[in-house]
Amino acid sequence: MTPDIRLAPLAGITDWPFRLLCFEQGCDCATTEMVSALGYSYSPSARSVTCLLERHPGEPKLILQLFGKEPEYMAKAAAGLSETGRFDGIDINMGCPAHKVAAGGEGCGLMRDLERAEAIIRATVRASAVPVSVKMRLGWDDAHRNAVELAKICETNGVAEIAVHGRTRMQMYSGKADWDAIAEVKRAVSIPVLGNGDIADAGDCLEKIARSGVDGVLIGRGALGNPWLFRQIRQRMAGEEPSPVPRKQRIGTILRHYGMMLDWKPEHIAVAEMRKHIGWYISGTRGAAALRDRVNHMDDPVQVMELLRGLEDESE
Ligand SMILES: Cc1cc2nc3c(=O)[nH]c(=O)nc-3n(C[C@H](O)[C@H](O)[C@H](O)COP(=O)(O)O)c2cc1C
Repeated sequence: MTPDIRLAPLAGITDWPFRLLCFEQGCDCATTEMVSALGYSYSPSARSVTCLLERHPGEPKLILQLFGKEPEYMAKAAAGLSETGRFDGIDINMGCPAHKVAAGGEGCGLMRDLERAEAIIRATVRASAVPVSVKMRLGWDDAHRNAVELAKICETNGVAEIAVHGRTRMQMYSGKADWDAIAEVKRAVSIPVLGNGDIADAGDCLEKIARSGVDGVLIGRGALGNPWLFRQIRQRMAGEEPSPVPRKQRIGTILRHYGMMLDWKPEHIAVAEMRKHIGWYISGTRGAAALRDRVNHMDDPVQVMELLRGLEDESE
């Protein structure tokens, strides 16, 4: 089977406009930003919650990610949200390393309490009308690498597939993702395993898939400002040379991204969020530092878009 090439969940980044751009380039599936099961249960119609739940009609396969540590709230959120018919799956976050999440026992904190992790998995699988997946790390720290154990718990309790980021919680984002450890998880279970961590380009992606034998990958930071990575991976898979991204196409995509954000979010938020996206889109291109500086000092989106349009026909 052809491996699935997916967009990883990135809080504050993988909203529907960015996901749509990745889908247009051949991404197979995306996951929403993580949503608090407790937050949803108490305030299902709060804007801070509903904006994370939006799905564009052009998104072919979207998984909703939930985080939490109470089985009953996870089940309640999974039941309510899976029944909307809006999501193709529910993913349980057991990988988030952020202090405010993991230290309180949510996210990767669940890898320190596999009994609770199992209770959450059972409750969520029972409540959900759509398949349930789990995203995990290798463990809490090097002395407690229990991803294989958790993967087996997932398999026994009806989880449809798992994703493994090849780092421990204590590593946060330092060092390198350990794809041999991901391969070990893949060998230990018979449900599909997706690998995750440090995929930078098309060649790197294929090498990591071949080395680990995973059924697919999740790409996070490598896709920032680079939705074309999905197309380039497809080209590599077909034995073709990945084609570069011409400046005109790059700028055109930024303008479309900007337009979607302005249509969807309050102007000041769209402007602030697009500053970081523009920084990623132009990173490594000629004149990037000066352009980033100008964009970061502009509050009027019309001016930013005019500036970008003026660059469309410049030579590379
Ligand atoms: C800014 C940022 C936000 C993230 N948000 C989430 C999230 O909401 N849920 C989740 O499971 N992982 C989240 N992650 C982890 C990524 O999904 C992924 O596991 C990690 O970045 C490693 O993959 P990469 O090397 O391809 O980026 C986040 C990572 C970053 C950098």
